[in-house]
Amino acid sequence: MPDSRPPVSRLVVLVSGSGTNLQALLDAAADPAYGARVVAVGSDRDDIEGLRRADRLGVETFVHRVGDYESRAEWDVALAATVASYAPDLVVCAGFMKLLGPAFLAEHAGRTLNTHPALSPSFPGMHGPADALEYGVKVTGCTLFVVDGGVDTGPIVDQRTVRVHDDDTAETLHERIKVEERKMLVETVGRMARRGWTVEGRRVLIGAGTA
Ligand code: GRF
Repeated sequence: MPDSRPPVSRLVVLVSGSGTNLQALLDAAADPAYGARVVAVGSDRDDIEGLRRADRLGVETFVHRVGDYESRAEWDVALAATVASYAPDLVVCAGFMKLLGPAFLAEHAGRTLNTHPALSPSFPGMHGPADALEYGVKVTGCTLFVVDGGVDTGPIVDQRTVRVHDDDTAETLHERIKVEERKMLVETVGRMARRGWTVEGRRVLIGAGTA
């Protein structure tokens, strides 16, 4: 008899730190109706809470540290191959603090997402909340995008806004952004998994399904 269950998308999540965005995805994916499950969690460093979150749920993990390779290019090839071995439908960089290289992007182009704690195209790079605060904007937020070869430049999938408070520090602002970032990630990755998506130039369109 044919299997009539809807397909469940395979997610590989890459992390470098505390992994609260990863945890939000793990929690959402515990519901079979979510349409996606985390098949592996990878990192560029060991001994981080993000990996422990996966371990606690029995999700497979892997670590590729740049320093363990002769060159950044070799690291990139190894990371691409390990991720490919899990046959992911989506690769989600959730606080992964390394730029993916050409080998990775050749292998996983169009299905690799990253979340950035600023409203692109403003404030790309490592210090989005601090840069937004220093500039004096009154509204900032977060951006989910399809990774390309630039720094936080890829086609935008989703964005959420967060108001800047007068007494904000970079830390308090970043924490409020992360609340929205987790919701955006869970909602949008779920929609992509259930409905599919296309990238047309700089526009990302999530499919016309029902969920
Ligand atoms: C997120 O704000 C992400 O956009 C940024 O680092 C943070 C990661 O948080 N690059 P966590 O590890 O998911 O808690």
